Amino acid sequence: MSASADHVKALVKSHSSGDDQAFYSVALQVAAKAARQGHHRFAADVKSLVEAGKAETKPSPVTAIAQPRGDLADLVVASYPETSLRDLVAPSALIESLEGVVAEQRQRHSLMDQSFNPVHRLLLEGPPGTGKTMTAGVLAHELDLPLLTIRLDGLLSKYLGETASKLRVLFDAVESQRAVYLFDEFDALGADRAGNDVGEARRILNSFLLFIESVGPESIVVAATNHRSILDRALFRRFDLVITYALPTPDEAISVLKARLGTLAGRMGWKSISKHTEGLSHAELVKAAETAAKRSLLAGADRVATDKLIEALGERSSTTSG
Ligand SMILES: Nc1ncnc2c1ncn2[C@@H]1O[C@H](COP(=O)(O)OP(=O)(O)OP(=O)(O)O)[C@@H](O)[C@H]1O
Ligand SMILES: [Mg+2]
Repeated sequence: MSASADHVKALVKSHSSGDDQAFYSVALQVAAKAARQGHHRFAADVKSLVEAGKAETKPSPVTAIAQPRGDLADLVVASYPETSLRDLVAPSALIESLEGVVAEQRQRHSLMDQSFNPVHRLLLEGPPGTGKTMTAGVLAHELDLPLLTIRLDGLLSKYLGETASKLRVLFDAVESQRAVYLFDEFDALGADRAGNDVGEARRILNSFLLFIESVGPESIVVAATNHRSILDRALFRRFDLVITYALPTPDEAISVLKARLGTLAGRMGWKSISKHTEGLSHAELVKAAETAAKRSLLAGADRVATDKLIEALGERSSTTSG
């Protein structure tokens, strides 16, 4: 046997950590040892297998994004959301405009061949907990792209020069790596921050505007905010699409509850439940459903009873208004 126990262990370890370089180099060590022991045929076979393997593994841009390195690591958090468009409860017009974005992105090459750009700059605005952040994840999932969330706290610095150079690192990444880039609560960019004079906040916002204007159509930039009113009108014009989110209608509220409860929802009095959903956001409804579900399970029930759900909804409404 040419491979020692240590070699085998090293192979397994490098395989499970996804370290191709280490894997191949151990394999080559095995081949070298085999050659020294006179197993030339075996050594040659291993060597050519390694060469063939190396030729096949292209450097994957996705792994590069999934683990942002260096300066980029302070600026973005990568994730691969599993939520699909089906999970988003919203008016059909909103769903349709998102379907439009997905369709244009999927067929962007044929659009670009005819010198049209696919929609790729989105502004999502609306009250908290209505699905803005979730939408960025949905787009990433539907397009099979990583979601890169920009950490605005990492981006903004007391020093304008520093902020500008960080923005540049980010812009380069956006141009070179196709992904969904989420600027969550991005109004912070335009806000006057402690230590920043107004002029400086203004300059940061301006460079962001220039960025939005120049970003290539391959990457999708999503900006989300729940402070539409404080935003500059100039900002709105830079986006291809502005989507407004709202609190759920009674029917949408029931859909959110049903989806979260899943099989735990028995035959429930949805009419009476519906009265207790008013004023609650999608996020609050999800939380109320979770509370009711956990309480019911811990009490030994295999279904959530109507009154348990109403109780949890009532607790949410009182925290919201209070
Ligand atoms: N439209 C929706 N349909 C289904 N579930 C939703 C919807 N909106 C929110 N949720 C649920 O609430 C959670 C939080 O929502 P999300 O973070 O997307 O809200 P947001 O609009 O970004 O709020 P904020 O303005 O506070 O950032 C989601 O992960 C999801 O579970
Ligand atoms: Mg959000």
